[in-house]
Amino acid sequence: MKRFFLLCAIGLTISCQPTDKSTTSMDDSNTSERVKDLMAKMTLEDKVGEMTQIAIDVISVKDENGNLAEPHQLDESMLRKVLVDLRVGSILNVAGHGYTREHWHEVIQAIQDMAKEKSTGIPVLYGIDAIHGANYTLGSTLFPQEIAMAATWNPGLAEKASHIAAYETRASWIPWTFAPVLDIGRNPQWPRLWETFGEDILLASDMGEAYVRGFQGDDPADPEQIAACLKHFLGYSMPMTGHDRTQAWIPERQLREYIAPTFQRAIDAGALTIMINSGEINGIPVHCNKAILTDLLRTEMGFEGLAVTDWDDITYLYTRYHVARDYKESIKMAINAGVDMAMVPFNLEFPVLLKELVEEGEVPMWRIDEAVERILTVKERLGLFDNPYYADHDYSKFGSEEFAEESFQAALECITLLKNDGGVLPLAKDSKVLVTGPTANSMMNLNGGWTRTWQGNNPDYDAEEGKKTILEAIQDKLGAGRVTYVPGATFDALTDGPIAASAARQVDAVVVCLGEMNYTETPGNIDDISLPAAQGQLVEAVAQSGKPVILVLVEGRPRVLGKWEEKTAAALQAYLPGSEGGRAVAEVLFGDYNPNGKLPYTYPRYVNTLRTYDHKGPDRVDNKGGENAINPQWPFGHGLSYTTFAYSDLQLSSKEWSMGDSLQISVQVANTGQRAGKEVVQLYITDQVASITPSVKRLRGYEKVALEAGESKTVTFTIRAKDLAFVGVDNKWITEPGAFTAQVGGLETEFVLNN
Ligand code: BGC
Repeated sequence: MKRFFLLCAIGLTISCQPTDKSTTSMDDSNTSERVKDLMAKMTLEDKVGEMTQIAIDVISVKDENGNLAEPHQLDESMLRKVLVDLRVGSILNVAGHGYTREHWHEVIQAIQDMAKEKSTGIPVLYGIDAIHGANYTLGSTLFPQEIAMAATWNPGLAEKASHIAAYETRASWIPWTFAPVLDIGRNPQWPRLWETFGEDILLASDMGEAYVRGFQGDDPADPEQIAACLKHFLGYSMPMTGHDRTQAWIPERQLREYIAPTFQRAIDAGALTIMINSGEINGIPVHCNKAILTDLLRTEMGFEGLAVTDWDDITYLYTRYHVARDYKESIKMAINAGVDMAMVPFNLEFPVLLKELVEEGEVPMWRIDEAVERILTVKERLGLFDNPYYADHDYSKFGSEEFAEESFQAALECITLLKNDGGVLPLAKDSKVLVTGPTANSMMNLNGGWTRTWQGNNPDYDAEEGKKTILEAIQDKLGAGRVTYVPGATFDALTDGPIAASAARQVDAVVVCLGEMNYTETPGNIDDISLPAAQGQLVEAVAQSGKPVILVLVEGRPRVLGKWEEKTAAALQAYLPGSEGGRAVAEVLFGDYNPNGKLPYTYPRYVNTLRTYDHKGPDRVDNKGGENAINPQWPFGHGLSYTTFAYSDLQLSSKEWSMGDSLQISVQVANTGQRAGKEVVQLYITDQVASITPSVKRLRGYEKVALEAGESKTVTFTIRAKDLAFVGVDNKWITEPGAFTAQVGGLETEFVLNN
């Protein structure tokens, strides 16, 4: 990990003064001759246009009420106005709902053809939220959402999945995705937790890097790759209230140790673009925080790519945050702080006002040049100047069986067996089951938000051709005659509890599928992290039968379950597993697949104890003076298997080592059960004494191993001093010498690190 070497008072200054160019990282030597030539020919108007990103709605035909006309169609005269008159450089999003690939081709071709009519002829950079596959192109392969991918603990699989997302996005002629989300998922109330890779920094950083590699490959201009956009820089996931886009107060130490590292790894992996956090930190909206957008992001972290705002966030500087008097002042603050491109997304005044600000000397010309160079460099790196789209490339794998199998594999590997009392699972294939609950027969709920529509909750899209809901997949496994289905409850109301209860008496086991209705962003705010009472009542109703109750959770964040959980015999966490999730759940329930997912977050038991696994010592002290204050429903890293694993022989290459060296920690893991399985070997290290209160433990290594029944393997982790670093008293990274405890699979050993 790159060390942050500057001490800057993040969040302490709002600057609307232009930065001194010498403090930024833009280096002309990285700019190609083509970009330099273009820049030399561009007028100020051309340049401010390049910095403008509008939503596709602006150039779409509306009906007599001003709503989007159906079927979707581009408005030729608006297209001309936006591209030729205003020279807009980028367009984003989908208007209303996903399109067929053919329609995307028509849209992109019309846009790029019109762009050729600009005096500069610069192609448009089209961006879209392809966050779990090319989710706005109908018929595309839908993958598990990020939180589920994290539960696989398998970055290799994540890279394959994001490469397929890239392939299918480019196949739609779109070269840029607003993904991955690298906000750290440490607040389970936050409605975008499921868009993150969970609470641990190492796991999330590995996954983020894998996504960047999968999206961009070695050459983002390749017809099967796209540009990644790291989001949302920085601190978006940590609002104090748990509600989206509400204030965050983040001390610099926390920001550097827990929030910046995922971004640093992805920047070092070559990510081309980044999106800014819509929220405020320490009283300063990030969109006008030069200390974050320039000093930290550019000078310290070395990011050279394009920084785009989030949705309408320049406007919010005056309408919501009240740090500016009007739109023009907001633009000045954001651009001078380091914004390169404004997702306006509807307001066509942006380029006009920005031009005025330059002419009035309020925004320096070099800031405009810097931003435009970055934008054009991304366009060039994507090959857009030569190929605004790859019309002749063979994209025959789009939506193919081969890709579906990759998604299936990812779904299988994410499913996490949380509980299995008395080995009730797997269920026998000749059993009779009752399937019930609000997520049992919904394709939409398996996919979550950003699926075909923004919220992913439009019932018109509750079907993916040939894909199975959990109910349908169970029917396929057992034959419809052995499966009874009773909806039982909606998310919030018990609809037919007595019917479900009496059906339960007629079967061998009950599969209760609970969870959440789809959401993202502010619509996903909740006032209570508990799963709505009605869902618990459904469990209580079917449990009266005395038949084993198997809980299947289909949810974006870990909703607190309540006492009724004790009435279930087994529980599976399916997260938001994508279109193949129904099949994957059935494979696990009936033992055709041995589960190996592990929780990427701590599953809370109580609403007032929302703690991460790497909490501090005093967090554990309970009100009786003991150390039981943290008793999660299930801990981070937890996940059972149908086989058993035994750990032995935890060895160190030496008991003492010094800063310049490395330490090898090895352990033997054996499959002691009757069937093949995969285990995630997790290495946790505790710093026994440190100048900043140490976490009770931190994940410092992990490896997923596949073992046949009876097989064993030695897993070796190499630890360097930097792997044990934390952000110290002076807010700089430091590794302190001293004693540490290493834990793997219930074994423990100690070592000493010398200076
Ligand atoms: C979200 C971003 C997204 C953007 C464009 C915003 O509201 O916060 O994550 O990329 O919209 O759709």
